[in-house]
Amino acid sequence: MKFTNYLLAFLLISIGFQNPSFSQTYGKNGMVVSDHYLASEVGVEILKKGGNAVDATVATAFALAVTHPEAGNIGGGGFIVLMKSDGEVTTFDFREKAPLGASPSMFLDENGKIKDNSNHSGLLSVGVPGTVAGLYQAHQKYGKLPWKDLVNPAIKLAKKGFPMSWGLYRAATRLAGGNESWDIMRDYFRGADGEIVAPGELWKQAALAKTLQEIRDHGRDGFYKGKVAEEIESYMKANGGIITKADLERYEAVERRPVKSTFNDFEIFSMPPPSSGGVALIEMMNLMEAADISKVEFNSTAYVHLVAEAMRRAFADRAEFLGDPDFNPEMPVDKLISKEFAKARFKTLDLTKASKSDSSRYGQLYGGDHTTHFSVVDKDGNAISMTYTLENSYGVKMGSSKLGFIFNNEMGDFNPIPGVTTSTGLIGSDPNLVAPEKRMLSSMTPTIVAKDGKPYLVIGSPGGRTIINTVFQTVLNVLVYDMRIDRAIEAMKIHHQWLPDQITYERNLLSPDTRKALEQMGHTLRPTTNLGVLMGITYDAALGVYVGAADSSSEDGAARAY
Ligand code: GLY
Repeated sequence: MKFTNYLLAFLLISIGFQNPSFSQTYGKNGMVVSDHYLASEVGVEILKKGGNAVDATVATAFALAVTHPEAGNIGGGGFIVLMKSDGEVTTFDFREKAPLGASPSMFLDENGKIKDNSNHSGLLSVGVPGTVAGLYQAHQKYGKLPWKDLVNPAIKLAKKGFPMSWGLYRAATRLAGGNESWDIMRDYFRGADGEIVAPGELWKQAALAKTLQEIRDHGRDGFYKGKVAEEIESYMKANGGIITKADLERYEAVERRPVKSTFNDFEIFSMPPPSSGGVALIEMMNLMEAADISKVEFNSTAYVHLVAEAMRRAFADRAEFLGDPDFNPEMPVDKLISKEFAKARFKTLDLTKASKSDSSRYGQLYGGDHTTHFSVVDKDGNAISMTYTLENSYGVKMGSSKLGFIFNNEMGDFNPIPGVTTSTGLIGSDPNLVAPEKRMLSSMTPTIVAKDGKPYLVIGSPGGRTIINTVFQTVLNVLVYDMRIDRAIEAMKIHHQWLPDQITYERNLLSPDTRKALEQMGHTLRPTTNLGVLMGITYDAALGVYVGAADSSSEDGAARAY
């Protein structure tokens, strides 16, 4: 081999090690897989310093708020599923809440129509953020290292800067010249010279660093009280928002019991309401068990039909029954996730013909698809699956430039018009109508699958309502089709959500023959480029090693191992 070839091979290997890649990473002592390689590195450094999975999660989440601002956040909310090394599983719910001044008709004009898209844009669409409270509560209860050590790496990244990537630069150019109301976005990505920071140059966020310092020094109160809370209230008042200091002070994260079930020899733990993710995932896994999916070939017509019909049914139940448990104490969660319910359901399913979604009842369009998920394991066998979000990419694209972070537009996840459900996707059912201090229904599905009482698969994804289905299919890929984690993440995915009554499929991954056969069964098909941005870890018991992979559709994502 010529010297230049050696050099090229060396460069490629180096790039492979440093950059996000579509391949597996192995770690004996722990692993972090996230949407940004620097955030994964921050998490792994915490593990190396003796931190546990909770510590690494807190540090990774704050780092993502700096390096992956389209969804990594302190202005939004999310969920943690934690499996401790003793096998006990718990969850933290830090979903945003509707402000005290909210009401079921707050987005409507005098004709009962949604006014100016106000459930998705402008400050009425902002829910009271939960991320800082959730991370703080998880750390207070299960963390090992001092809180400040977990916030400091994010402060350093914000203050000293980190290299602008091409993916971030593309978003920066799009957002800087966008809608006039996107106040914080105008200067967000600009350097001292007033220009958008170029790819490869360091992007610094001085205001965000100061806000993070308040959080480092005062914990939860650094966000929900004091200087930061004052500035949030005055920014809201000046720009048409309704979140006040009282909303912030009253916000509490909640530790909740996971929803759980079995699938053959595996145990599945996922997020309960106010996320619909865990319930829908378990409903579909139970249906797959009742149908004995292992006899159905992956990617065949029978496979797509069965999986789509399971999705149709789970999404209809989601729309009809699920909402914030604190406001809906009668939700039939136990029934929906029971094996008997799945068996009865299986009997309603024709294996040769598509069912019809009844448009006079329930369904909903996609919703925001710019959430972010990361998975963490440590050397003691603690595992965390965490998904958090601003709803849309860069949330509402508004915020105080004195604070340097972007607010969510999560209020769009509530049902906006009481009583109005349409075939185009609007839902008006009661469980998820707006009410003061209520949490809006989510689709986030942070999930841990266990085998013999130990974490076997730690998985999750962004993608609005598609989250539930991409996690579902990845779990099937690993548990039923024995795929390695990277292949399971990259494999063909479909999405059906009851209404609109159609199967969305990843273009180029479903054969023309299969599509034709599905259409003959009565399915409507719609191509899309990509479904899901999954971040997963599996455990290889034979080697005694964790194996992780980041979805290749994540521009900067990577697995980092210890
Ligand atoms: N905002 C996306 C979700 O919570 O499902």
